Amino acid sequence: MSHTPVAIIGAGPAGLTLSHLLHQHGVESVIFESRSREDVEETVRAGVLEQGTMNLMRETGVGERMDREADIDEAIDISIDGLRTRIELTELTGHQMAVYPQHEYLKDFIAKRIADGGTIYFNTSVDEVSGYDGDRVTVSYTDEKGESQTLTSDYVVAGDGSKSPYRKPVLELDGAVRDRHEYPYAWFGILVNAPQTQKELIYATHDQGFALISTRTETVQRYYLQCNPDDTVEQWSDDRIWSELHARVDSADLQVSEGEIFDKAVLRFRSAVTDPMQRGRLFLAGDAAHTVPPTGAKGLNLAVADVAVLAPALARAVKRNNRDLLDRYSALAVPRIWKAQHFSYWMSSMLHSVPGDPHFQHQRRLAELESVLATEAGRTYLAQQYVGKDLPTFEV
Ligand code: DHB
Repeated sequence: MSHTPVAIIGAGPAGLTLSHLLHQHGVESVIFESRSREDVEETVRAGVLEQGTMNLMRETGVGERMDREADIDEAIDISIDGLRTRIELTELTGHQMAVYPQHEYLKDFIAKRIADGGTIYFNTSVDEVSGYDGDRVTVSYTDEKGESQTLTSDYVVAGDGSKSPYRKPVLELDGAVRDRHEYPYAWFGILVNAPQTQKELIYATHDQGFALISTRTETVQRYYLQCNPDDTVEQWSDDRIWSELHARVDSADLQVSEGEIFDKAVLRFRSAVTDPMQRGRLFLAGDAAHTVPPTGAKGLNLAVADVAVLAPALARAVKRNNRDLLDRYSALAVPRIWKAQHFSYWMSSMLHSVPGDPHFQHQRRLAELESVLATEAGRTYLAQQYVGKDLPTFEV
């Protein structure tokens, strides 16, 4: 039977970044991914990298294509009824942000893992994980050919997304909690062949609802519109999309650029936090443990922040037989998760109009947003949360 120090379930941002960082520490791992490589590399997700995530890519030799191709920005705009206020991220914080789609991030890490001799089993589903309360983990899985296999490991990490079945055993622990929050709105996301509306992102609030102008390349743009959580793609004709985008974003000096829409999808808004994120030799990372709503695009960055703790902690446990950092993984990771949770909630609630909200709430919400934008202190606070804190570092 084969053995690996760390078995990782899921080739998403958490799993791939973890495997890469472990390799840098001289610790090997095996990644199990139920989907195909093509599927992982093509699924459309959000696209903002915090400075800390960009630094990690550069410092560990995965940043070259990102530096070449990402749209690196030093500001964002916040628009109220077409009136834009610039938030000078770099001037206010010293940090930049990159618009780089998650699937491009995954492509870079998959290529790097393979180039470094790493093992990723695609089209491979994990059937059972056992032994995490004891001395050794056993992972039973069905390989690409449909054959049942077994692997043992010292540790197992679930980075398999918000539906992870491995949260359940963690939540069986005394005192374990999962906090959840649902939002009364969702986003309708489109990809469109069009020139950039402007270089920097625009977060727009309007009586008709929120809109976000983001970008993918010089010729492909990513736009989002606030919609109802139970809306379907069929309810949003191209004409309706364009008329809503223009109403919510346009001004005398700026018009949303139009083109052929080639992807439409509804994105759910949810918050969830699991605490702790570990049980024995089992650890949760990324969306398997926590979910943020899309506003501010913190999801990938939070997954990276989790494994910035977990990788040195696992390396210390494997190489030095010292679990002190590993035992503190949840305590070290959870405070940052709550801060990102707060920021995503706060940005979402300031920018979205809730259908049926009393006039009082509507006016209070706009006054809050206007107060934040009106002072340098307010803009600095928003900018600091938006660009995120540097990633923690630990000696192994
Ligand atoms: C994108 C998504 C976000 O949620 C956000 O806040 C900014 C950009 C994007 O997909 O480009």
